[in-house]
Amino acid sequence: CGIVGFTGAQSAAPLLLDGLKKLEYRGYDSAGIAVMDGQKITVSKVTGRIANLCEKTRDGADVPGSTGIGHTRWATHGAPTEENAHPHLSNDGRFAVVHNGIIENYMQLRDELIRDGYHFESETDTEVIVHLIEMYYRGNMRKALLKTTNRLQGSYALGVICSEEPGKIYAVREASPLILGVGIGENYFASDVTALVNHTRNVIYLEDGEFAELSCETIKIFDCTGQEIRKKVTRILWDVQAAEKGGYEHFMLKEIMEQPGAVKATIAPRIKEGKVVFEELGLTASEIGEIRKIIITACGSAYYAGCAGKYAIEKLCRIPVEVVLASELRYSDPLIDNRTLVIVISQSGETADTIAALKECKAKGARTLAVVNVVGSTVAKLADYTVYTWAGPEIAVATTKGYTTQVTVLYLLAVYFAGQLGRTEGEDRKLLTALQALPRQIQQAFDLNASIPALAKKYHASKSLFFIGRNTDYAIALEGALKMKEISYLHAEAYAAGELKHGTIALIEEHQPVIALCGNPAIMEKTLSNIVEVKSRGAEVLALTFRNNQKIVSVADDLLFIPKIDALFSAVVEIVPLQLLAYYVARENGCDIDKPKNLAKSVTVE
Ligand code: G6P
Repeated sequence: CGIVGFTGAQSAAPLLLDGLKKLEYRGYDSAGIAVMDGQKITVSKVTGRIANLCEKTRDGADVPGSTGIGHTRWATHGAPTEENAHPHLSNDGRFAVVHNGIIENYMQLRDELIRDGYHFESETDTEVIVHLIEMYYRGNMRKALLKTTNRLQGSYALGVICSEEPGKIYAVREASPLILGVGIGENYFASDVTALVNHTRNVIYLEDGEFAELSCETIKIFDCTGQEIRKKVTRILWDVQAAEKGGYEHFMLKEIMEQPGAVKATIAPRIKEGKVVFEELGLTASEIGEIRKIIITACGSAYYAGCAGKYAIEKLCRIPVEVVLASELRYSDPLIDNRTLVIVISQSGETADTIAALKECKAKGARTLAVVNVVGSTVAKLADYTVYTWAGPEIAVATTKGYTTQVTVLYLLAVYFAGQLGRTEGEDRKLLTALQALPRQIQQAFDLNASIPALAKKYHASKSLFFIGRNTDYAIALEGALKMKEISYLHAEAYAAGELKHGTIALIEEHQPVIALCGNPAIMEKTLSNIVEVKSRGAEVLALTFRNNQKIVSVADDLLFIPKIDALFSAVVEIVPLQLLAYYVARENGCDIDKPKNLAKSVTVE
């Protein structure tokens, strides 16, 4: 999500709308503004893009006043509807709030506020904040904000206006970015500098626990005890486009680098008191016990996420898992009954074949569970149960953090189901530790592979690239090869290493690049034999393995490294060097990385 605030002498609405357009890449399922004219607050909200809000408000002309806040949403709690769009108003209409982040204890606060007579208009976690402010306000916003934030657990960047404090906007930060823009006779805040740089390049970065009161002439900043503090003004030197991409050259690279945070956001709410929990699943232990077969269905990378997740589910739960392309499943008259659990995976939740496969499975009586990134999407709505990957908006067409968070959810489900089936006794701790280590290990995978841009220079002119691996390494090779073809347009194909001798080896000739995945110790020796086979036919081998894996290091021509990881959960980490390799090869070839030719982010046709 993105938030903005403005106070000054000009009309606030057009400026807020302009800021929101710059933030649209952070979320775009609904938007809204609240503007204060004297003591009157006017709110305007829409579903969909900021363009709809511009149309509804006649580019802001219908929302008078020179003090206001705005929000563009990427739904987390509650579907992308107008009621759930921000700003949220207090019951007495005196306060409006926009929020970026997640309030973890909102259920408890909501129950408490309802008992105290507050009325809720939305399903969002945010709405508790505005009611708390109303409850605590006794003529002093600073005190009301302190009392409110004392009650909140989670992450938040907040923007608040109060009709009794004309000309003032309030900004609060806790574990979610928030920046103040210092103007002349006007001041701003925003969750991202992109929304500010058109108006001012002088900014103040708020830290966690700090909050600010802005009027057109003054900015007062307070620490978490309410003491006023002084902060330095920083001058922004970036251009707008670079700022949107967080300083990265492409969204894809930004999203690759966001993976430690995205995987953490996916894992954290699902581990409580030393156990994996899935509050969103209504399945009882005995219902899980009734499952005789799991079918995973999806398209593209989501399908490959399924291929990677299958190993963990089968190994831990001992339930057979079939992974089937959605475009095949729907026409295959699949063997499904009410003891089949169908897991449907989709980043967008709008892929036509995936939706059709889901409908087919439902019609045949399967229980259906969706793993989706976009809240309120079609797949999320159709499935019996929905588990969200908390990857945040993904802009680059080729998925990266979408894929890794999908695999992460499958790992979590594997541990959860196995626990419910009583199959993890004595192992719970080890499994949880391995899951919780994943974000850090992704970071290590970045740190270990500084040579990738140089390797890309060596391999970018290849006619074709073969990816080989066995077991989990094979599943990862499939996604690695897909990334390469999607963005670099090189022919890339993944093969189960053991299948080489049944045909593919005929294609190996002098200098043919072979990318050999050796991340799974149980099966690595076998892949090593295949490396030797292709090398003796002249192949150039780029191996991916652990740093101290001498056997592989000594035979390969070039190396990609991963930290030592649990093979059961390896895909989330092992894919990272391959994403980076595809990225730098594509960059070397001058490809349009974020929007590869002929591809679409969401394929809504069959
Ligand atoms: C398109 C995208 C892929 C994605 C696939 C499935 O082909 O380019 O990156 O993996 O669709 O999309 P979904 O939104 O269902 O995960």
